Amino acid sequence: MKGVILAGGSGTRLKPFTKIINKHLLPVGPFPMLHWSILKLKEAGVEEVLIITNNESIAHFQTMFGSGESYQINLSYKAQPHAGGISHGLALAKDFVNGERFILLLGDNIFEDSLKPYIQSFISQKESAKVLLKEVDDPERYGVGVIDEDRRIITSIVEKPTSFVSNFCVTGIYMYDSLVFSYIEKLTVSARGELEITDVNNMYIANDSLTYEMLDGWWVDAGTHESLYEANQFVYQSRDHRKGDEQ
Ligand code: TTP
Repeated sequence: MKGVILAGGSGTRLKPFTKIINKHLLPVGPFPMLHWSILKLKEAGVEEVLIITNNESIAHFQTMFGSGESYQINLSYKAQPHAGGISHGLALAKDFVNGERFILLLGDNIFEDSLKPYIQSFISQKESAKVLLKEVDDPERYGVGVIDEDRRIITSIVEKPTSFVSNFCVTGIYMYDSLVFSYIEKLTVSARGELEITDVNNMYIANDSLTYEMLDGWWVDAGTHESLYEANQFVYQSRDHRKGDEQ
């Protein structure tokens, strides 16, 4: 299975640092944030990874992670010309994915679980997409999944709900088939000026082809100062925070 990591965006909530440095190069534990996504994919057996970032940062990523040799993974890079949304960035992976099923990670998601079992169940399921959910206290920050009564399926995903619909956040770990690219082509720009991944996931729901699983371990979207601090705490408290010292 191939992997795609998104590491573009504006990082406005992590100003002032993001005025000069891409968010995904800020430290989480003793490594740059993106190290953890690469490591998770490597540990799950993913061998080829495309990193999508913005024009200004691509050279920094290439210097930092190179061809992936030290991770024993094959890394390539592509620039997203502007921060047009997660789906806008993902569209750039079409040729790389080349018709296969793949996993997409948002590079600011730091988490404990191994991706291996989720990838395995995705490979063997007939439905063509899967998302991973996590119960959170602040669902208004995220896209949240509404689950049916017997907890078998997601009936809809609501982006940043203003009143309570569910506290199951859709994490930045997604698995898709190549239909995703035709869904992206159908998207229109949202009120905040982005091509939304939630709209894509709702298209899969409309076709009865989105499954979900719950993440077991800790999970952080490290996109704010507080959550970046929290991600550092989790990583330093975890048994394997030096993992990857050889990089
Ligand atoms: P967000 O946290 O939604 O957006 P952002 O990174 O621009 O931050 P802020 O809201 O503080 O301005 O992005 C989630 C992830 O998706 C993050 O890892 C960056 C990535 N991303 C892209 O790669 N391209 C994009 O166009 C956007 C919007 C996000």
